[in-house]
Amino acid sequence: MSRTSIPDLHEKYRDGKPLSMLTAYDAPIARQIDRGGVDMILVGDTAGDNHLGYDDTIPVTMDEALSNTSAVDRAVEDAMVIADLPFGSYGQSMETSVDNAVRFLKEAGADAVKLETAPHGETTIEIIDRLTELGIPVQGHIGLTPQRMNQIGGGYIQGRNHSSSAAVDALVETAERLEAAGVFAVVLETVTEETGKAVTEAMDVPTIGIGAGRYVDGQVLVITDMLGLGGESFTLSKQYADLDSIISDAVETYVAEVDDSTFPAEENVYDPLEE
Ligand code: KIV
Repeated sequence: MSRTSIPDLHEKYRDGKPLSMLTAYDAPIARQIDRGGVDMILVGDTAGDNHLGYDDTIPVTMDEALSNTSAVDRAVEDAMVIADLPFGSYGQSMETSVDNAVRFLKEAGADAVKLETAPHGETTIEIIDRLTELGIPVQGHIGLTPQRMNQIGGGYIQGRNHSSSAAVDALVETAERLEAAGVFAVVLETVTEETGKAVTEAMDVPTIGIGAGRYVDGQVLVITDMLGLGGESFTLSKQYADLDSIISDAVETYVAEVDDSTFPAEENVYDPLEE
């Protein structure tokens, strides 16, 4: 069976069915997420702070992102695999941007790439236009764009003061220009619910929200947040499991059993004749 395609996603969107996306950075988790039936798996640059031990997404390199994407690709059968282009891998020239995007499809097995775009971000809109013309499916990303964190200074909600804000108009216009450049969907991060609704109503491709409220076409969460792996919890997320507790209980039990020699037990020992 082939993976979820853009026509599959758009058919679901036209039927008014919400789309689901989760992040993954390695094979075992990606395999479970895929079995759970999500439409899309994003190999996000949130790998930086959720998988690779950095403070944020900025240090993630092309090699790390390609390696994470390849691992996810090897594990996934059904969901669309989308690779996030890391900070600094696009924008300096059209040639480098295209080369780097191509590597995710050719070398790492991604089905699409995702790029962050600042409000009215001419450079990335031009790049996206070129990528889609060349046959590279692109998911847009607007609202809070963490790769610009050093510039915007923190995780602020984007597009507040819905009725009067030029920021909201800028988001709507940027989303429309991304659609004209050929994106198949747009991630909308950390905006008010009214802003999420305004962008969604302006577009004919799906919006995928994270902290964007209820009136968008789909949802995405960072896997470690929703699994309770890593300690932090955020208003925009929902914790569906508590893996931190499960893992620390398991490790403490293992250490205690090694200490008191109850592990390994007789059933964990190879019988030389049977083997
Ligand atoms: O990198 C990522 O995980 C993302 C999601 C937060 C949408 O961009």
